[in-house]
Amino acid sequence: MRVLVTGGAGYIGSHTVVQLAAAGHEPVVADSHVNSRASVLPRLEELTGTRIESHSFDLRDADKTSALLGEGGFDAVIHFAGLKAVGESSQIPLEYYDNNLGTTFALLRAMDRHGVCRLVFSSSATVYGETDTVPMPEELETRSTNPYGWTKVMQEQILRDVAATGAAQVALLRYFNPVGAHPSGRIGEDPQGVPNNLMPFISQVAVGRRERLQVFGDDYPTPDGTALRDYIHVEDLAAGHVAALQYLQDHPDVPVREWNLGTGHGTSVLEMVAAFEAGSGRAVPYDIVGRRAGDLAAVYADPSRAEAELGWRATRTIEQMCADTWRWQSANPQGYPA
Ligand code: UD1
Repeated sequence: MRVLVTGGAGYIGSHTVVQLAAAGHEPVVADSHVNSRASVLPRLEELTGTRIESHSFDLRDADKTSALLGEGGFDAVIHFAGLKAVGESSQIPLEYYDNNLGTTFALLRAMDRHGVCRLVFSSSATVYGETDTVPMPEELETRSTNPYGWTKVMQEQILRDVAATGAAQVALLRYFNPVGAHPSGRIGEDPQGVPNNLMPFISQVAVGRRERLQVFGDDYPTPDGTALRDYIHVEDLAAGHVAALQYLQDHPDVPVREWNLGTGHGTSVLEMVAAFEAGSGRAVPYDIVGRRAGDLAAVYADPSRAEAELGWRATRTIEQMCADTWRWQSANPQGYPA
């Protein structure tokens, strides 16, 4: 399949591009580079051994998006493009709604105009909101506590409504906590500014870019008091997209379906710190500080639907996640070249 990958220069997008090519598909990247580097593209060509067509523009630009799909030959779209920092989304909510919904509107109109039907959407476990239910099955109600999360809930709803008309066929993939990097160490996560998420923060402390990690809370009702999350290797996550794409092609009668992409296991913050220290041989000094507003004690997936229907399962261990993150971080201490 010739596949438009929006946000294809970003963290999860870039890893998915490599796996699409490995599976015999033809990925085409479109990315505004507001939160990614164009210098990832030669590395994608190096890893795939092929030329990767890429386009740099803001996907809210409906004319440009339509012109690209109008080039023809597209069989599907994987839509990663969007803003994703929870805290920032409360400070500039309008930017979040405008970017995340605007790209989806432009894409859906362009797909409709040019007869491209299949869409795999980058959603998040954040759509389960503040729930105590773990593991989390797909049937839980969706809702949010912050604008970023609401954009995911709303985009899911928009896509469901459009799919119900028969105009699109949609896979909603709800990611748990993506970490790790391609085992080559050539591509990985490169957050701009201070990382919001645990793994890039740990790896920047280990490589000496930051002094100490702050552990947000050790008084949760968990074995060591720190919060549990379902960390999933980005390579497993990327494979989930290839599997979902195949499912859409094999099940033209299914208009829309949602799948959790997680391991089903919770790992605590302190377990992750210990695993990273073991994998990197570097110390990760930390301080215990207060809880972060909005955090839950435990978040992990019930991944059984994806296994039953997509034939997909996460196989990579926490040790591999740490080793691969470290290979990327130590070889690229400042991330991608500007
Ligand atoms: C966060 C978002 C979630 C989003 C996801 C994307 C919040 C409240 N949730 O999830 O909506 O979909 O990122 O990947 O922001 N931690 C520390 N110190 C740090 C950073 C994190 O102790 O410097 C802890 C957190 O309290 C949490 C765990 O590490 O217990 C994981 O945090 P993080 O990587 O930010 O992911 P989530 O909070 O699960």
